[in-house]
Amino acid sequence: MNQEFIWWKHGVFYQIYPRSFMDSNGDGIGDLQGIINRLDYVVELGVDAIWISPIFSSPMQDYGYDVSDYTDIHPMFGVMATFDRLLAAVHERNLRLVLDYVPNHTSDQHQWFIESRSSHDNPKRNRYIWKDAKSDGTPPNNWESIFGGSAWEWDEKTHQYYLHSFLKEQPDLNWRNPEVVKTMQDVLRFWLDKGVDGFRMDTIMSCIKHTDFPDNPPIKDNSPFKQFGLSLEPVYSMSQPEVHEISRGFRRIFDSYNGNRVMIGETWIFVLTELVKYYGEKLDEFHIPFNFMGTTISWNAAMMKDAISAYYAVIPKGATPNFVFGSHDVHHLATRFGPENHRSAAMLLLTLWGIPTIYYADELGMEDVDIPPEHWQDPWGKNTPDLNINRDPERTPMQWNDSPNAGFSPAGVETWLPVAGNYQEFNVSNQLRSQTSTLNFYKTLLKLRREMQALHAGNFDFVEEVPVDIMAYVRNAEKQRVLVIINFEGSKHRLNLSSLNKSGRVLLSSQSMKSNKVNLSDLVLNPHESLLIYLT
Ligand code: NOJ
Repeated sequence: MNQEFIWWKHGVFYQIYPRSFMDSNGDGIGDLQGIINRLDYVVELGVDAIWISPIFSSPMQDYGYDVSDYTDIHPMFGVMATFDRLLAAVHERNLRLVLDYVPNHTSDQHQWFIESRSSHDNPKRNRYIWKDAKSDGTPPNNWESIFGGSAWEWDEKTHQYYLHSFLKEQPDLNWRNPEVVKTMQDVLRFWLDKGVDGFRMDTIMSCIKHTDFPDNPPIKDNSPFKQFGLSLEPVYSMSQPEVHEISRGFRRIFDSYNGNRVMIGETWIFVLTELVKYYGEKLDEFHIPFNFMGTTISWNAAMMKDAISAYYAVIPKGATPNFVFGSHDVHHLATRFGPENHRSAAMLLLTLWGIPTIYYADELGMEDVDIPPEHWQDPWGKNTPDLNINRDPERTPMQWNDSPNAGFSPAGVETWLPVAGNYQEFNVSNQLRSQTSTLNFYKTLLKLRREMQALHAGNFDFVEEVPVDIMAYVRNAEKQRVLVIINFEGSKHRLNLSSLNKSGRVLLSSQSMKSNKVNLSDLVLNPHESLLIYLT
């Protein structure tokens, strides 16, 4: 039987934050031509697809996640012809291009909202969520904005509140209005017709709210939402059952196109049984409902193993798991897990069973850049200064070489966020030259993953007989067996894994260039080391 090749099932995604990747016109902000100029780097890295955070018209209050025209390119990034050239250049190189779709809210500068707020009887009024004040003038319920404060904003002109789950400049669309459904579906068709290979859909679980808008209850002690500073559990403002109908509607559109376009959900959902519902009961929703476990967990072998086992246990039959370890919303891998562990985190991300997404610059082992509060740009960070949430530190310019501004912008230009102070030593050019660099570690790992069936498509089994500091597993496909061992802590270990095999050959170590035969009855694992070992 000729089984159709579904590219995203075994692919690796690379997230580009477009403001920060490459500035081609010297305005201090990355752009689409910059991405085109650096596409060969992406090819050499060895990933399959790029996902680009929003590039559409926007007043940039939330750096593009406040869209004012879904079918136009922000001039800061280029024009439509630049986008068309990017898409062609991506496809010429056998890569895929995934765009970002922001369905929950528009910008308050979107024409729809400008009309909607103009009067009660404007035909677009009902495209957003407007409610009367309570009799005492306070908001219709207690819902909180994720970015801080009330989720309701009073409109002086029309004397009603509108809902905004994020900034007040990001009013929520009303997905119970069929006109919103249709118009927003047309947006997808516009880009899919152009040939984009898929979408990542922003904060999908927020799209539809409880019909009665009840108050949210107080937050639970162990609630994952506490880390965002919320004081209420968003039970009525997020993850309502009707979101699945919206998702199925999107999926029908994707399925009507050829080329296996991929539908990725930004599903910040912490209850795993709820998360996997986004695959759809009949696998008719998201191909990849993002699993963010790796962005919040601590670097601890037992916790990691439990989280991975719990996740695998609920993956529906026929669905493909996935792992996101880094993004534009969380601190860099090397900062969260420690510089001594970030290569092991990459080893994990790229050898687990599931589709990996790499965040740009994590492949260099880049750490967060300390930005003094007076230079903070991120509105979420500014609204919640006590929470360690500011997202600027992980969004600084890519460090290409040792020239001024790290080769991101021309010398003398003020970049939108500062370039890290270490760019003269810490940059792509230097790492390409050094055999032992993190970049070359990623390249080798990605090559092994691509070439070895066991790694991109094999079965997965934990190895149980290892000390608590260590996580080990075997990936196995037809005639290949590969062992991954990760030492999460700072002590050296000697392991006897002879039950797996007598010996093996090290394909990659996170610490050295060793590629030697090892005796599995006496395997030495250095502090914080991870190994990829070919068994048979
Ligand atoms: C999730 C995005 O990843 C984040 O960057 C953005 O601020 C919010 N959604 C609101 O769109």
